Amino acid sequence: MKKLLLLPVLLELQLPAQLPEGTETAITNHGASLSLDIAEPGNHVWILQGSSNLTLWTNLETFKLHNGRFRRNVSLDGLPAGQFYRFVYDSASQPLTSTTATALLLPSTTPNYASPTLPEAFSVNPIAAQDNTPVGNPTTDAGAELGRVLFYDKRLSLNQTVSCSSCHQQAHGFSDPRTFSAGFEGGLTGRNSMGLAHARWYLRRSFFWDERAATLEDQVLQPIQNEVEMGMTLPALEARLNAEPFYTDLFSRVFGTPEVTSARISRALAQFVRSIVSTQSKYDAGVAQGFANFTPQENQGRNIFFSAVGNCGACHGTDNFVPGGAAPTNNGLENPYIDKGIGDITGLVQDEGRFKVPSLRNIELTAPYMHDGRFTTLEQVVEHYNSGVVDHPNLSPPLRLPQNQGGGVRRLNLTTAQKAALVAFLRTLTDPNLATDSRYSDPFNYGD
Ligand code: HEC
Ligand code: HEC
Repeated sequence: MKKLLLLPVLLELQLPAQLPEGTETAITNHGASLSLDIAEPGNHVWILQGSSNLTLWTNLETFKLHNGRFRRNVSLDGLPAGQFYRFVYDSASQPLTSTTATALLLPSTTPNYASPTLPEAFSVNPIAAQDNTPVGNPTTDAGAELGRVLFYDKRLSLNQTVSCSSCHQQAHGFSDPRTFSAGFEGGLTGRNSMGLAHARWYLRRSFFWDERAATLEDQVLQPIQNEVEMGMTLPALEARLNAEPFYTDLFSRVFGTPEVTSARISRALAQFVRSIVSTQSKYDAGVAQGFANFTPQENQGRNIFFSAVGNCGACHGTDNFVPGGAAPTNNGLENPYIDKGIGDITGLVQDEGRFKVPSLRNIELTAPYMHDGRFTTLEQVVEHYNSGVVDHPNLSPPLRLPQNQGGGVRRLNLTTAQKAALVAFLRTLTDPNLATDSRYSDPFNYGD
């Protein structure tokens, strides 16, 4: 038994012996109110009790935890002297289950995920052809909403401590501010997490830095089973989610019958990831008005980016800032490469250091940068292309001088002002709504 004393409130946490490690509570006094927090990764059912004499306890609330935490705010105003609270674990209460209404805070009308308003350039080639939505898994509003719930649910990892959102954080463009992400047992991923906005558009349809997943439907099941990331098996996940009434309810709404299968999990997660679209950036507004909304500095940066001066558009081209179909490239980070990217899969020397070209939309939010998170700022990225590209047999041609000029590594020789302009342009690709859009945020009800 663990006791925490804070007068006039006592918070007592009674732990059964079999509860997993990591169980803890915190109580925080916010002036006139007190918040009672419980953290317990097993997602058990707990009872909040109150007492004025420490002898007679009244059940105030019985609740099931989601994602291992629960908070209840208690007003201290008018509280009788000597009022006590405690959280109690009671094995008899464990059968209590959550309904969709108690587990989740979903809007009463499912928001629009299926038909986002897209800029004109997205309905014509080259971007139209980049849309990797398969015929067999069109995005529906209900399907993407189910995907959103799965994306934020730590039940997807073996010990219920990590969700997709642990490493793909909305505030960071669905990437991770850590160089490498921590998995369910604290082990680190081998690469920097990737931003997910606009995953829907990529002509080659493949995913991961080394494109080892052929489709998004394939990709989304891999972190679940990855031994560092989530450590789960698909049969165990199916069994765990089939036991949650709110899931069988949501799966029924989307697929017509309540069964939770890994194929359905894959479809819903892929729909949610494809629905993460952000087209309210300053850049998008600029396209519609000849960039009259840009500062002179931002327009200078735009010219450098798309012209031969910077030549960034050769790889991060189109209004989606991904290649129109070019194979993964080597952008001269090092020689030899520690992580050989595609080369580690094929074993071919000509593939060493070749990685997927990521979209630069919302790039300001997704630091650190590159597959190994080596650069912490956009200024460092620009300096890499300006003066730091390392020669390598596989270095991509746009980063080389033409053969008639020797074919060596290209130096952009940008002035300080030009470099600052390029960074200012990259910042126009941020959609400020992405980080806060409630359609993409955590839907779980934590009681607070
Ligand atoms: C422990 C951290 C972690 C977790 C958990 C995690 N990811 Fe990732 N994710 C990464 C990393 C790191 C990469 C890049 C890995 C690589 O390329 O080898 C990545 C890559 C991706 C990509 C590829 C993006 C692209 O443009 O190619 C997608 C999509 C993705 N994750 C979705 C998910 C989904 C969906 C989940 C939950 C089922 C999830 N991730 C769980 C860390 C994580
Ligand atoms: C030859 C193709 C090519 C050109 C030209 C190119 N890039 Fe890249 N860019 C890449 C590749 C490939 C990566 C990922 C490399 C890696 O992580 O190993 C990348 C990564 C980046 C990233 C980090 C993305 C992330 O999510 O971490 C930024 C920012 C970036 N490039 C900006 C630029 C700018 C600005 C220019 C012009 C000065 C430019 N790039 C020119 C191919 C290119």
